[in-house]
Amino acid sequence: MRRCAFALLAIVFVLRAGAAFAATSAVAEIEAHRHLGVASCSNSVCHGASQPFRDSNVAQNEFAIWQEFDPHAKAYQTLTNATSASIARKLGIGDATKAKICLDCHADSIAEDKRGERFQLSDGVGCESCHGGAELWLNAHADRSVTHADNVAKGMYPTDKPVERAELCLSCHMGTKDRMITHRIMGAGHPRLSFELDTFTWLNPHYKIGEAWNKRKGEWNGVRDWAVGQGVAAGNLLDLVVDEKAGWQGIFPELVLFDCHACHKVMSANRWGPRQGTGLGPGVVRLNDANLLMFRHVLAPVDKAAAARVLEQTRALHKATTQSRSDTFAAARRLRATLDGLLPQVAGFAYGPESLDPILASIEADAKRGEYRDYASAEQVAMAAQSVVVAFENDGKLDAEKTKTLRARLDGLYDVLKNEDAYSPQRFTTALAALRAVAP
Ligand code: HEC
Ligand code: HEC
Ligand code: HEC
Ligand code: HEC
Repeated sequence: MRRCAFALLAIVFVLRAGAAFAATSAVAEIEAHRHLGVASCSNSVCHGASQPFRDSNVAQNEFAIWQEFDPHAKAYQTLTNATSASIARKLGIGDATKAKICLDCHADSIAEDKRGERFQLSDGVGCESCHGGAELWLNAHADRSVTHADNVAKGMYPTDKPVERAELCLSCHMGTKDRMITHRIMGAGHPRLSFELDTFTWLNPHYKIGEAWNKRKGEWNGVRDWAVGQGVAAGNLLDLVVDEKAGWQGIFPELVLFDCHACHKVMSANRWGPRQGTGLGPGVVRLNDANLLMFRHVLAPVDKAAAARVLEQTRALHKATTQSRSDTFAAARRLRATLDGLLPQVAGFAYGPESLDPILASIEADAKRGEYRDYASAEQVAMAAQSVVVAFENDGKLDAEKTKTLRARLDGLYDVLKNEDAYSPQRFTTALAALRAVAP
C-alpha cells in the first residue's frame, strides 16, 4: 500500500519537476495574480487565531506565529535600521525602504497595479510572497470541499513541493535572475547569504507536518528536501554564470557567484591545498561550488555513476573558468543539462533510513580528501548532517542517550563554523568523524 503511494508520487514528482524547468520562474508564478495583503489573511477566524483550531485542516494561528517569530515579518523593518542606511549610503541608492533592489527581497515587491486595497509594503515578506497572489483563491480556499490541487490551479504556490519551494526560497536566499544580489551589495555591508532548504524550512515554522498533512499533500521527506535544495541551488548558480546580464559586471564576472573566502582570507595564513572537486592550482578564484559538491552526496544512495559524472563535469567547469568565457559557458551548460536530467530522479527518490549511511559515508570520504577546505562547503555539510540527524530521530531508532550524543556532536560541528575568518578544515574533519562515529 505504502509502496504504491510512493510509486505514484514518484510519477507526480517527475512531471512537476519537469514542469518546474519550464519558462516560468517561481517569482513569475508568485506574481501572476493580485496580492491582497496580509490583512486579508489575519482575521481571527481565518489565520489570525491566537490558539490552534482543533477541527480544521490547518492550525489557523499562522499569522500570530509569523508575526511574532518569523524574521520574514520584520524584513521590511530591517530596511529602516542603521545597517541598511549604511549599505544604501555606500551604494548611493537613497532610502533603502524605497529602493527596488532591497524591496525585491525584503518585502512583497509586486507591481503597484497588482496590489489590493489592504496590501501594505511594510508587511515585509508576507503570506502571498510565498503562497502566491490570493486574488482567485482567497474566497474559495477555506471551504473544506476545496482541495489543495484546486487552490494550486487558481494560483496558490505549491510550497509543499520541494523543487518549487527551493526555487521560491532561493529567489531571495541566493538571488536569481529575477532578484539579484551582487558583490557590490555585499561590499557595502550586506551579510553573506547561505541557505539549505530542509534546515531553513524548520527554523521558524508556522506549519505542522504529520499524518493529516501527508494525506492532503503527499509524503513529507526532509532528506529529500535537502537533496532537492542542493540540486536547484547548483542549477541556479549555473544559470547565473551563463547569464550575460546577471553574471557579469564590466570586465569581471559577478563575484557573488564565487567562493567569498577564496579572496577574503588572511594573506599570511598559507592555507591553500589541493581539492579534487576543483582540480585547480593555487591562486585561482573559484566558483562557489558548495551546492555542486553536496549534490554529489545527494546522489550517493540514488546513482553512484551519476555522482561521478557530476564530479567530472564540475572539474571541467572549474578548468574552463581558467580558459575563456565561451569554454565556461559551454561547460556550465553541459553540467546544467546533467542536473536537469538528475533532479527529477532525486525529487522522486524515497530517501529512507537506509539512505542515510551512504550519504554520511560519501560526505566523510570527501572530508578525508580535504574537500571542505572552503568554509561555504563546510557550512553546507553541517546543515546536511543536521538533516540526517533529524531523519535518524524521526526514524525512531535512537534512544534518549544516543540522541543526546548525536546532538552534542552536531553542535560540535557547528562550533567549528562559528568564526568564518578563523575556520579550520582540520578541526572540521575531526568533528565530522566524531559525529559519524556515533551515527547508527
Ligand atoms: C521575498 C523574499 C524571500 C522569500 C521568498 C523567502 N525568504 Fe526567507 N528571508 C528573507 C529575508 C529578507 C530574510 C531576512 C529578514 C530580516 O532579518 O530582515 C529572510 C530570513 C529567513 C530566515 C531566518 C534566517 C536566520 O538567519 O535566522 C529563514 C529561516 C528563512 N528566511 C527561510 C525561508 C524559507 C524556508 C523560504 C522558502 C519557503 C524563504 N525563506 C523564502 C527573504 C525571503
Ligand atoms: C536577493 C535578495 C536580497 C536582496 C536583493 C537584498 N537582501 Fe538583504 N537579506 C536577504 C536575506 C535572505 C537576508 C537574511 C540572511 C540570513 O540571515 O540568512 C538579508 C539580510 C539583510 C540584513 C541583515 C538583517 C539582520 O537581521 O541581521 C540587512 C541589514 C539587509 N539584508 C539589508 C538589505 C539592503 C539595504 C538591501 C538593498 C541594498 C538588501 N538587503 C538587498 C536578501 C536580500
Ligand atoms: C517564507 C515563505 C512563507 C511565508 C512568508 C508564509 N508561508 Fe505559509 N507556508 C510556507 C511553507 C514552506 C509551508 C509548508 C508547506 C505547505 O504546507 O505548503 C507553509 C504552510 C502554511 C500553511 C499550512 C498548510 C497546510 O496544508 O497544512 C498555512 C495555513 C499557511 N502556510 C499560511 C500562511 C499565512 C497565513 C501566512 C502569512 C501570515 C504565511 N503562511 C506566510 C511558507 C510561507
Ligand atoms: C575575486 C575576489 C573576490 C571574491 C570572490 C569576493 N570578494 Fe568581496 N571583495 C573583493 C574586493 C576586491 C573588494 C574591494 C576591497 C576594497 O574596496 O578595498 C571586496 C570587498 C568586500 C567587502 C567590503 C569589505 C570592506 O572592508 O569594506 C565585503 C563585505 C565583501 N567583499 C564580501 C564578499 C562576499 C560575501 C563574497 C562572496 C559572496 C565576496 N566578497 C567575494 C574581492 C572578492
